[in-house]
Amino acid sequence: MKVAILTGGGDCPGLNAVIRAVVRRGEQHGFDLLGVREGWRGLLENDHFRLNREAVSGILHLGGTILGTSRTNPFKKEDGPRKVIESLRRNNVDAVVAIGGEDTLGVAKRLFDLGVKVVGCPKTIDNDLSGTDYTFGFDTAVSVATDAVDRLHSTAEAHNRVIVCEVMGRHAGHIALHSGLAGGADVILIPERPIVLDEVCQHVRTRLARGKRFSIVVVAEGAQIEQGKDQAVSKELDEFGHVRLGGIGNQLAREIERRTGVETRATVLGHIQRGGTPTARDRVLGTRYGVFAADLVRDGRWGFMAALHGDSIVAVSLEEATRSLHLVDPKLYEVAEVFFG
Ligand code: F6P
Repeated sequence: MKVAILTGGGDCPGLNAVIRAVVRRGEQHGFDLLGVREGWRGLLENDHFRLNREAVSGILHLGGTILGTSRTNPFKKEDGPRKVIESLRRNNVDAVVAIGGEDTLGVAKRLFDLGVKVVGCPKTIDNDLSGTDYTFGFDTAVSVATDAVDRLHSTAEAHNRVIVCEVMGRHAGHIALHSGLAGGADVILIPERPIVLDEVCQHVRTRLARGKRFSIVVVAEGAQIEQGKDQAVSKELDEFGHVRLGGIGNQLAREIERRTGVETRATVLGHIQRGGTPTARDRVLGTRYGVFAADLVRDGRWGFMAALHGDSIVAVSLEEATRSLHLVDPKLYEVAEVFFG
């Protein structure tokens, strides 16, 4: 059986662990493996190379993806789906392992509906994919963001400042909530709840009244001061209809300083959360997902994705995984609120 592997969407720590695991397990099953360059673009443009044990040697601990990635959406290209199917046929590819988030796996699901034999692996630092408790990459992003919050604490305290730390999280505030909880943030703001500036400033004032002249605010990039008004830095849409986010941290910092009189600065973590070495947890999770995905292919379980339920890896349909987003559990946010102000 010939199996093509691709990584799509934003990169994510642990992608190489998954690729390595699919190849190693796939070779045990007797598969011929192909690496597709830059996500769905490589299938549209027939751009791929042979993958074997040698090709994936020494990549487990590396960030990024040896396959490259892109936000190419074949359903936005003229005749795109037909070209993908034709490219698979021409190269005698029997099955595709798609490693990605809601967009990449959404494409996988639509291609599966058209008859393509595809299985998925859940990737995204945002952890907003349904059907799985955790996506790989999230743990690394939370570790990076927590380290940043720890560092911001000491400088905020030294200067008696409020520091706003903007983290990623387009639709869901998992990174903000987990890093804010782990780092002891005084306020955590997430896309699931509109920001109420009066409340944020009240927390800063409460701390001032207790003699705490500094505060740490963690905000997810997708959080909004007013519902419906996004803080996009660019109105240009990508092929999946997303605007580029960023800017809420600076906007908040200006408002907090204006309303409380406390000097306020913003730090935007951006892609630092996505780059670099995956944590041990992400390497292990990615490896388990990759082995399971190869087994899904062996068993012909098309249209399914590897998922984590509790401590078990299980199969979940791509339909279920892409139907809706996995948002923050309000109960966990309530836990974080105990420590606000
Ligand atoms: O991978 C998801 C994500 O990290 C979002 O939180 C963020 O909005 C987006 O990627 C930014 O990606 P890029 O800058 O690569 O377009």
